Amino acid sequence: MDLQHRDREWWRDGVIYQIYPRSFADSNGDGIGDLAGITARLDHLNDGTPASLGIDAVWLSPFYPSPMADFGYDVADYTDVHPIFGTLADFDRLLTAAHSRGIRVIIDLVPNHTSDRHPWFVESRFSRDSPKRDWYVWADSKPDGGPPNNWMSAFPPAGRAWTFDQGTGQWYLHSFLPEQPDLNWWNPEVRRAMDEVMRFWLDRGVDGFRIDVAHRMAKDPELRDNPLVELGGDDDAAGEARAIRLARLGLDQLYDEDWPEVHQILRRFRHTLDAYQQRMAVGEVYLLDLRKLARYYGSGRDELHLAHNFVFLHQPWKPEAFRSVVDEYESLLPADAWPAYFLGNHDHPRVPSRYDEAGNGMARARVAAMMVLTLRCTPFLYYGEEIGMSDGGVPSERVVDVDGRDPERTPMQWDSSPGAGFTTGEPWLPVAPGAQRVNVAAERDDPASMLSLYRRLIWYRRGSVALRRGSYRSLPDGPTGLYAYLREAPGVERLLVALNFSGDPVEWPSRSDLPPDGHLELSTDPSRRPGPVSLAGLAIGPEEGVVVRLT
Ligand code: NOJ
Ligand code: CA
Repeated sequence: MDLQHRDREWWRDGVIYQIYPRSFADSNGDGIGDLAGITARLDHLNDGTPASLGIDAVWLSPFYPSPMADFGYDVADYTDVHPIFGTLADFDRLLTAAHSRGIRVIIDLVPNHTSDRHPWFVESRFSRDSPKRDWYVWADSKPDGGPPNNWMSAFPPAGRAWTFDQGTGQWYLHSFLPEQPDLNWWNPEVRRAMDEVMRFWLDRGVDGFRIDVAHRMAKDPELRDNPLVELGGDDDAAGEARAIRLARLGLDQLYDEDWPEVHQILRRFRHTLDAYQQRMAVGEVYLLDLRKLARYYGSGRDELHLAHNFVFLHQPWKPEAFRSVVDEYESLLPADAWPAYFLGNHDHPRVPSRYDEAGNGMARARVAAMMVLTLRCTPFLYYGEEIGMSDGGVPSERVVDVDGRDPERTPMQWDSSPGAGFTTGEPWLPVAPGAQRVNVAAERDDPASMLSLYRRLIWYRRGSVALRRGSYRSLPDGPTGLYAYLREAPGVERLLVALNFSGDPVEWPSRSDLPPDGHLELSTDPSRRPGPVSLAGLAIGPEEGVVVRLT
């Protein structure tokens, strides 16, 4: 497939699949996934036929040289590959192999911070007069000898966001680990350096970037204290999730994230991307406030192409919860902006585990798959989601992550062999217990499997203008337990999606605003066959989702 001739805005209707390189496929038996391993597994992702998953792009989490204090989100060299993952030549081979299958490749850009071993920081730390001193955020102690302000690291075990440097007698800021010092984005040299990093990869042919903590690059230049939290008064859809997060931190993050200047930085990124053809940026905008999130699209296509919506990810398993987030977000987004929904990534428990209540996690995960793949959005999937991977049990002696995220990073389950087909060696994290049953080989030819459901949904979506580009309208007045919506491409196609979040069967009511008949296109229930249906009285089983074409 010739990428140049496909629609310029591929990122609007493509399905994007996140690969955590350490955990996807190990080509050399050292127990750690690598780039050559990914290349060897591309056919699973898209071989051009419905026998494969059918995704349009992959997002690769960091594979750069790194001391791995945060498994690659502590970058020591932005323009190379960590030897454990391979070489730049391996990266080029992966890119070429992906492109030849019509798979785009976006990579993780980590602009908020570097590793403390990055030569920039080593130089910055060396002396107060270092030419790179101002590339990072250095500040004096408060008069009482304490840190410059009350900002906290996003990782609770790391405590304060400041570490004192004995050698130079000042503190440096780290929004995450002490091994991840924050760059000073007020410094124009930092901005120019990151432009160069972006161009390095764009020139190599990458199709875009996922921008790590895109909302945190700019902070208050006066480094003022964050105010203590005042809870209450939140009644919008995001209120509860935001309140939980604030309660954990105890501080309202007024000054250390979402600082207005961040939009200027994103406009600069966009300018760099726009000098190339068909490139994009999706931001990890971890703001649990839909109004703020919507601003990251800019005005007139001048900031992010997509912003990950974490409010959606944080919803409880309730139809009205998802509906109100989606409806509110639809009303807030600028006309041309496009949502990006997902329910899992390398920082959050997996859906079948997170939503499980007395063993129904897998049934709910099937409904969740239908939701993410039929909403008006660019869906992001996380590796293993397509086979129904649950969180792995990681015994305390095998814990390696600072923030409890190992369970969602266990090896991809390719087959039922001891290394799950991920490795012939000892995997860096234990293979999850369910791997004997839950794996690509076991699910490939089973029409009832999660993999078959994902394939059906993705390939159906590829062929459906209404799902890829159509409008969205929720039907809030339906039966309890349902989240139902219409996806419409006027004059072409009208689809009703009805998702039963409850454990009870539901009957679709007769409605004067919808035609009486339709055609059942898809169901999460593998025993249900497609075919003509009468809409009034249509039975929707417990934890079943259906897509009906309205005729
Ligand atoms: C967000 C990433 O997704 C997470 O894995 C990482 O720890 C932090 N940003 C810091 O880079
Ligand atoms: Ca390896």
